Amino acid sequence: MALVPMKLILDEANKGEYGVGAFNVNNMEQLQAICDAAAETESPVIIQVSRNALKYADKGLLAAMVRYMAEEKYPHIPMALHLDHGPDIETIKECVELGFTSVMIDGSLDYGTKDEAGKHPPRSFEDNVAITKEAIAVAHAAGVSVEGEIGTLGGIEDDTVAGAVHLTEPDEAEEFVKQTGVDALALAIGTSHGAYKFPVGTEVKLALNIIDDVHKRCPQTALVMHGSSSVPKHMVDEVNKYGGKVPNAVGVPTAMIQDAIKRGMRKVNIDTDGRLAITAAIRKVFTEKPEAFDPRKYLGPARDAVKTWIVEEMKAFGTAGHARDYKPVSLEEMKARYGG
Ligand code: G3H
Ligand code: 13P
Ligand code: ZN
Repeated sequence: MALVPMKLILDEANKGEYGVGAFNVNNMEQLQAICDAAAETESPVIIQVSRNALKYADKGLLAAMVRYMAEEKYPHIPMALHLDHGPDIETIKECVELGFTSVMIDGSLDYGTKDEAGKHPPRSFEDNVAITKEAIAVAHAAGVSVEGEIGTLGGIEDDTVAGAVHLTEPDEAEEFVKQTGVDALALAIGTSHGAYKFPVGTEVKLALNIIDDVHKRCPQTALVMHGSSSVPKHMVDEVNKYGGKVPNAVGVPTAMIQDAIKRGMRKVNIDTDGRLAITAAIRKVFTEKPEAFDPRKYLGPARDAVKTWIVEEMKAFGTAGHARDYKPVSLEEMKARYGG
């Protein structure tokens, strides 16, 4: 089937009370691994591309590969192509033209400005609402879904002026949804991007009550959890065993993601775990077969490792088995639903 709007996938997940992984891609092997895992487990899936990935992989090339997977290789699997952390309206327009079926406008930070320390300042609530509405006007006119964000995360977003993480205020979240009509909303509940989310040896704590509160107030809005990599110990150990240096990495335990999903999280963003799986597999080949220089000999095992891990994630989030639950909805149809 053609790529579907992300709203369709998340609305269905909301009805069925399960989570859907949104996995970042930068190359063919990552994309194949994600789609193969979705096909094997019969899972709907969100494939997401960051602005850095757009630059790295020639944006049109990535979009074409994702379309091929959805239309030709796995026509029975609902897939959405999503812009992750869209920085500005220009990038949103570009992605809509490229055939993305969803975009995130990360209005929590002003990506157009940097302070003297090189950090992006946070946007005010009013400015976040304004840019999110602008993104929605562009995207909904094409039937494309929109994710907004309220609050700031750590990792790429600890780049703020204060360097502080601001957890989402449920009151603000409710008001933000009311004023913008956003399809999906990223909440800051204490996660951060990357492999170092929590200090080693301390109890992992997230503000899961924020999910309960926002889900109760905005039951139709799909809630999004950024920074959801679990940073599995076996992957980190494998990277380090074969010469890597990723000490003291800690992620969000899978059980905590499952709890978040029970409370209403629907989109689960994961990038770091894929990077670790690839790195571990490649390092292993380079160590055990130093004579290997055919990229297929190390990118192939890396692809297999990513697929194996995503299959587990799809089962853990409850996504497995839901691919055939519903009929596809086209962007044209969604555009009409938005009143366009
Ligand atoms: O949220 C950030 C994602 O991990 C994307 O990272 O900008 O390095 O592609 P990237
Ligand atoms: P991780 O760094 O935990 O994989 O988070 C990725 C993410 O939130 C992408 O938007
Ligand atoms: Zn993110």
